[in-house]
Amino acid sequence: MRTFAELHLHIEGTLEPELVVALAERNGIRLPEPDAARLRELNRFTSLPDFLARYTANQDVLRTEQDFTDLADAYLARARASGVVRAEIFCDLQAHLARGIAAETVLNGLGAALSRSEADHGVSTGLIITFLRDQPVEQAEDAYVLALASGVDLLGVGLCSAEIGFPAAPFVPLFARARADGLQTVAHAGEEGGPEVVWEALRQLRVGRIDHGVHAADDPELVAHLAESGIPLTMCPLSNRALQVVPDLSRHPLPGLLAAGVRVTVNSDDPAYFGGYLDANLAAITDACGLTDADLDALARNSIEASFLPAAEKLRLTGTAAQA
Ligand code: HPA
Ligand code: ZN
Repeated sequence: MRTFAELHLHIEGTLEPELVVALAERNGIRLPEPDAARLRELNRFTSLPDFLARYTANQDVLRTEQDFTDLADAYLARARASGVVRAEIFCDLQAHLARGIAAETVLNGLGAALSRSEADHGVSTGLIITFLRDQPVEQAEDAYVLALASGVDLLGVGLCSAEIGFPAAPFVPLFARARADGLQTVAHAGEEGGPEVVWEALRQLRVGRIDHGVHAADDPELVAHLAESGIPLTMCPLSNRALQVVPDLSRHPLPGLLAAGVRVTVNSDDPAYFGGYLDANLAAITDACGLTDADLDALARNSIEASFLPAAEKLRLTGTAAQA
């Protein structure tokens, strides 16, 4: 079985309907819809904002450290079964703070599962705190300070949520600060927005990876820049189909970008909402685009090389010279 690094995964997006119901019961919360099968049926979206509303509402059941530990453990076990040996996991800490959950509850809870993951699941992990670009930057700054103060092992910071109408500029000082603190940086770009949003993330935020980057394919100069710089795209086919970013996967830009030498990777984004984990994403894009074994080998190698693992570890996992 090929092994992969999963580099675009929101831990809140792994909250399966059955776990929503179980956690609601455990925490004494009355759900408007208490049936897991019905909740799953509601996971039909027409756009990113449509999805974000449901994704945010469901997070209300996450209240205790144990809830966050259980969420991460369930993901890590499922991810390993789909070939994942390294997971660089996003957490919307800012969203949890906004609904009154303490940073320690979130980070100690996730940290407990992540720190045991190599032993428990055979998956090495890193934690990336994602800021919400449609919320005031002061909220993001507060989340960053609390994350640092918590003492949890942080790999990096990222930027997600709605793209259109929310420029990256206010986040430039925070990203510069995170980089000065020795952290990695990533940003969602080119999912809702066009190639200009990807350029903005590269030139202003100076990120090391672009999350999604679907619309980078619309700009040949940008494609050439990505290929030359080796800056990876963390693509998510089932997410793109579910949110109508690419309604017909046979038209997904991934094969063309791969052929153009861009370091593209496949990831599951929010697997509980979009119809599957890494294995399902690989199967869907393979079927839709007729990917070959050589393409899949390249996607596996790209994922390890695009990770933020140390070079020696990349070498061990790929068995070839990492080109990072
Ligand atoms: N895009 C933007 N923000 C998100 C996503 C996404 O696909 N998933 C969770 N937050
Ligand atoms: Zn995402």
